[in-house]
Amino acid sequence: MILSIESSCDDSSIAITRVDDAKVLFHKKISQEAEHTKYGGVVPELASRLHAKELPRILESAKEYLSDIKAVAVTNEPGLSVTLLEGVAMAKALSIALKIPIIGIHHLKAHIYSLFIDNIVKFPQTVLLVSGGHTQIIEAKNHADMEVIATSIDDSFGESFDKVAKMMSLGYPGGPIIEQLARSGDENRFAFPIPLLHSNRLAFSYSGLKNAVRLEIEKLGDLSQQDKSDVAASFQKAATEHILHKTRYYFRKKSPKSVAIVGGASANLYLRNRLEILCASFNAPLLVAKLKYCSDNAAMVGRCALESYKNNEFSSINELLVHPKSSKIN
Ligand code: KG4
Ligand code: ZN
Repeated sequence: MILSIESSCDDSSIAITRVDDAKVLFHKKISQEAEHTKYGGVVPELASRLHAKELPRILESAKEYLSDIKAVAVTNEPGLSVTLLEGVAMAKALSIALKIPIIGIHHLKAHIYSLFIDNIVKFPQTVLLVSGGHTQIIEAKNHADMEVIATSIDDSFGESFDKVAKMMSLGYPGGPIIEQLARSGDENRFAFPIPLLHSNRLAFSYSGLKNAVRLEIEKLGDLSQQDKSDVAASFQKAATEHILHKTRYYFRKKSPKSVAIVGGASANLYLRNRLEILCASFNAPLLVAKLKYCSDNAAMVGRCALESYKNNEFSSINELLVHPKSSKIN
């Protein structure tokens, strides 16, 4: 079995994955959303302290598996440096104490492997990754070769939802809150600009849209519940149109056989439905991970580490460092 740890942001999670059949035998995650909500975003120092408290408690409840663990895997890039360090420190301690190898895992690669849990999925795979830190189109050719085709030049998709929610004092994380509010809103009330609409650049950008929303909110002054819903719906529409516009542009060049969507924001049903229609027009099925594996979790880290384990790809304990900003998926 492989024990995996995730602490790249505000979720403390540990999983145990069986090597023979990739079954997740144990998976526990403690989200810190309630602690960060009053700040409208993740406070790194607070998140790190909560990981230091929660990770040992989760490990305690996985105690019965420890004698069967053959390797320990941990997210070491990218993420918040102080939170990544908590998971890496625990993984190193386990590696030394249990005399087992350690595997450093790239967080975005782990998100791609969320598709593979309890699902039969094969490479190569065109992937749209939408999370709090990233918006990317990735060509996942195989375990060792994942090419980033397009990336965010400023804010990411999920982050823009968080920021728009913060502007209206709705709490954190903004994604599910905005999606829920948007259901009772008029998506055509505000014509927010679709980012990079007249550019051929294959990239994502959300800061312009975010600022347009900020100006509208300032103009409205005191927001009624209906105003908030209409802002949420109109913003969600423009944010989604941007993704669809860029993916359509790429699909026309590439004609993917199948498309997958991963990352915390892939839970957004409005985005999923619109993307499904786009994929159908290219005769490509849209693959999604199980809902519980969309947002950050250790099961996806373990599923990814399983492939590294089978290929004998281990990290050296002295050289395994955290890389908060790493962009290239390795
Ligand atoms: O993948 P994830 O758990 O963490 C990162 O790796 O960043 O993604 C969290 C992000 C947050 O920004 C959150 O607001 C967003 O995903 N998110 C959503 C939805 N659910 C979560 N964004 C839009 N719609 C949602 N339903
Ligand atoms: Zn993530």
